[in-house]
Amino acid sequence: MNKTHLVAPSLLSADFLRLAEEIKMVNKSEADWFHLDIMDGMFVPNITFGFDIIKQINKLANKPLDVHLMIEKPERYIEKFAEAGADLITVHYEAANHLHRLVMQIKETGSKAGVAINPHTPVTCLEEIIPYSDMILIMSVNPGFGGQKFIQTSVEKVRKLNLMRKEKNLSMLIEVDGGVNLDTGKQLIEAGANVLVAGSFVFKSNNPTETIKKLKSL
Ligand code: DX5
Ligand code: ZN
Repeated sequence: MNKTHLVAPSLLSADFLRLAEEIKMVNKSEADWFHLDIMDGMFVPNITFGFDIIKQINKLANKPLDVHLMIEKPERYIEKFAEAGADLITVHYEAANHLHRLVMQIKETGSKAGVAINPHTPVTCLEEIIPYSDMILIMSVNPGFGGQKFIQTSVEKVRKLNLMRKEKNLSMLIEVDGGVNLDTGKQLIEAGANVLVAGSFVFKSNNPTETIKKLKSL
């Protein structure tokens, strides 16, 4: 497996009045992916944006779009997210009654499939789905908002999932999302994380390009 971790800035904390410039900044930076947070006001107590905005972002972005769906009944919209330009679609374990079917539905569109778990969900719940998943997303805050405090027990969850991956000889990526900064990012990479999502730490910093570079060089 490639030892270099990936960095995915979350546009949730970007300045939406200057969205084009923010996207161009990420394009030119050392970031690997764009992380897009889709919230429906039902699965999480917040609402963000949908297909048309993703399509616009996709026109300008020169890196893969990592689309994190925090919505109920995501099976209703998988094809539309894929058409809008999602390269990777992540659904929540807690939002799906038929997770295996949903993962297959995502793969049929040609997108990669990710499965996310909330802070209260143990990694052992993933045992049967990880062989079918391209990525597992460990939420290190309760989903819904940027700028929240990192939940420290997430590091141990990454360590456990990394062990499961080794034992089963699998190669899915482990992504972590919420409260990532240089300190928590370092701990997560040491525990086995492959993708760091960072929203406020990047976009609220004085020099986002430099902050991305620092996260890459951890
Ligand atoms: C939260 C989102 C995150 C959010 C992270 O529900 O899934 O992607 O943007 O924001 P920070 O990095 O500020 O915790
Ligand atoms: Zn996210």
